[in-house]
Amino acid sequence: MEEGRFITLEGGEGTGKSTLARGLAEALAARGRAVVTTREPGGAPGADAIRALLVQGDVNKWSATEEALLFAAARLNHLTHTVRPALARGAIVISDRYYDSTRAYQVAAGGLAPSVLDQLNALIEAPAPHLTFILDLDPSSGLSRSRGAEAGEDRFEKKDRGFHARVREEFLAIAAREPKRCAILDASAAKDAVLAQALKTIEARLW
Ligand code: TMP
Repeated sequence: MEEGRFITLEGGEGTGKSTLARGLAEALAARGRAVVTTREPGGAPGADAIRALLVQGDVNKWSATEEALLFAAARLNHLTHTVRPALARGAIVISDRYYDSTRAYQVAAGGLAPSVLDQLNALIEAPAPHLTFILDLDPSSGLSRSRGAEAGEDRFEKKDRGFHARVREEFLAIAAREPKRCAILDASAAKDAVLAQALKTIEARLW
């Protein structure tokens, strides 16, 4: 059987990634594709337990290095139990966040050395996505959209404006460095327009 396709959705807070994931899953399933939607941190029972440690509580409870280790453990659990089995079955896996989030939040905004993330990705043998959508939006609009999305899951939202500005810049820099893998979507557009653009890109690039 043909190996599936791994699509990741990246961007700052409140950029509409989970809405886009739902829209893509529905549209691709209607076209007869097997689709698995998932998210990071999370997407498997062990990773969900680590998620609670990361997203709840005091803003300064973990350093960027501690966070990167926890995200890597959650990612390995997610890859092993959810992503790799689904790809092996030939499914399209749509993940709301993946390793570009670690590069934006822990490396660019948090100050972790890039080589540490490279080593962690090598250690867990993290596969590169076939396609990554970067949802771009001014962080102040995103943060006002996202506040209170899931009760108590606001640790990263409490970081200051400079942190969120560096996250946005880094996502755009990743897209510029890897234009074949990445496509930028204007997340200030209507959600139907964002979905239509994403579907067009998938059809053009993935098959
Ligand atoms: P979510 O709000 O999109 O579900 O993601 C939870 C938070 O975790 C979000 O604020 C971004 C953050 N995050 C990182 O800092 N590094 C990572 O590697 C991932 C996957 C998420």
